[in-house]
Amino acid sequence: MEAHFTEWLNLGIRWIHMITGIAWIGASFYFVWLENNLNRSNPREGLSGDLWAIHGGGIYHLEKYKLAPPKMPENLHWFKWEAYFTWMSGVALLLVVYYLNPSLYLIKPGVDLAPAAGILIGIGSMVAAYVIYHFLCDSPLGKRPALLGVVLFVLIIAAAYGFSLIFSGRAAYIHVGAVIGTIMVGNVFFTIMPAQRALVKAIEENREPDPVLPAKGLLRSRHNNYFTLPVLFIMISNHFPSTYGSQYNWLILAGIAALAVLVRHYFNTRHDSNRFAWTLPAAALGMVCLAYVTSPAHRAAPTVVPAAQTEQPAPAPLADTAPAKVEAAPTENTAAAAPTTADAGSQVDFAKVVSVIHERCTVCHSATPSSPLFSTAPSGLLLDTPEQMQAQAAKIHAQSVATQIMPLGNITQMTQDERDLIGAWIAKGAQIN
Ligand code: HEC
Repeated sequence: MEAHFTEWLNLGIRWIHMITGIAWIGASFYFVWLENNLNRSNPREGLSGDLWAIHGGGIYHLEKYKLAPPKMPENLHWFKWEAYFTWMSGVALLLVVYYLNPSLYLIKPGVDLAPAAGILIGIGSMVAAYVIYHFLCDSPLGKRPALLGVVLFVLIIAAAYGFSLIFSGRAAYIHVGAVIGTIMVGNVFFTIMPAQRALVKAIEENREPDPVLPAKGLLRSRHNNYFTLPVLFIMISNHFPSTYGSQYNWLILAGIAALAVLVRHYFNTRHDSNRFAWTLPAAALGMVCLAYVTSPAHRAAPTVVPAAQTEQPAPAPLADTAPAKVEAAPTENTAAAAPTTADAGSQVDFAKVVSVIHERCTVCHSATPSSPLFSTAPSGLLLDTPEQMQAQAAKIHAQSVATQIMPLGNITQMTQDERDLIGAWIAKGAQIN
């Protein structure tokens, strides 16, 4: 019952997060586009440009003032609640999914970190990120946008690396998203909104508005615009275990984020030149390269969580056929290579495979999960019967052999030998009799 309740809570919050996020990012795209496409030739007195557009069966005429209209309009639309709600729903989601079940979702299996400490690091890093970012923007670096961009990128990837050491892959990715999202909403709350309020107040009081604040606001809103695509990827990254599940997940994220920023740059500059048109094919090629290097055939064996390693003294008779364990050969490919425990020609004992899967997986992946955390099998994946195991062999391989995403949080303490056994069974064709 409780699991069912959290599922719907998750659904509700996630849906709100998506809706408000779309509204926020949509507005960001739209206004940057507007700014870039203003017709700036011969604007009317006091205007910096105007623009005509047709949408939804109507023709619109928009004008941008250099600083402000002589008189405040009666009805001025502000854009802030979509940002605030996106952030608040994002934090709520972080809480429901990760912070309520830290040992399952948040902490990297095998890392000795108290759940509360993990949560504190998560929240602390969001706050710290904004403070550092704010300081950098206001420092002399703020006057060199390109260099500032590079520094920010490096810092964010450093954070991703740091998270990857202590958080599960998906939690590491989500925390990078949370850090960026916090910077974005901080920009709205602490810089853009105050700048806009000051502008409006000056007009109301018939003063000349201070041009410095709007310029700051514009820089921050540009940053937010470049942040959008990486954040959007992070939001959907949970569906792609070959990214977050990799040992080099932080590097993969860096690659995808860099490509996303390039593409964004093209769209932000193409109004006055096609100089960055190359970024589109380059980004497509980059994604193909990432797909290639993350393929199971190239994936290095992840550093393994020695859940019960100590209980596994190498049995004497096998000692010479079962040499160095996987950790000793990190570049060895776990996907295709014959696993170390089963020597080449021999048959894999399917009864053992069944007992491993029943012990390590079916607490959750069953028609009747015994885990109190799930009322139905996660992702609808059932591993109760041999036929189900066989049908899902490829997925089982991807999640519990090639990467070690499953069991979630290694809560059921699957050992490397067991992973090797499953790997060997699948490598030999996943026979069930
Ligand atoms: C503590 C509960 C739990 C245990 C134990 C567990 N899983 Fe999972 N598994 C999950 C959850 C939750 C998901 C869904 C993850 C998500 O949100 O994408 C999942 C997803 C999967 C998927 C992806 C299914 C799909 O269609 O996308 C596979 C494959 C998988 N698990 C295999 C395994 C295997 C194999 C084991 C045992 C070695 C295992 N799991 C143990 C909770 C668990």
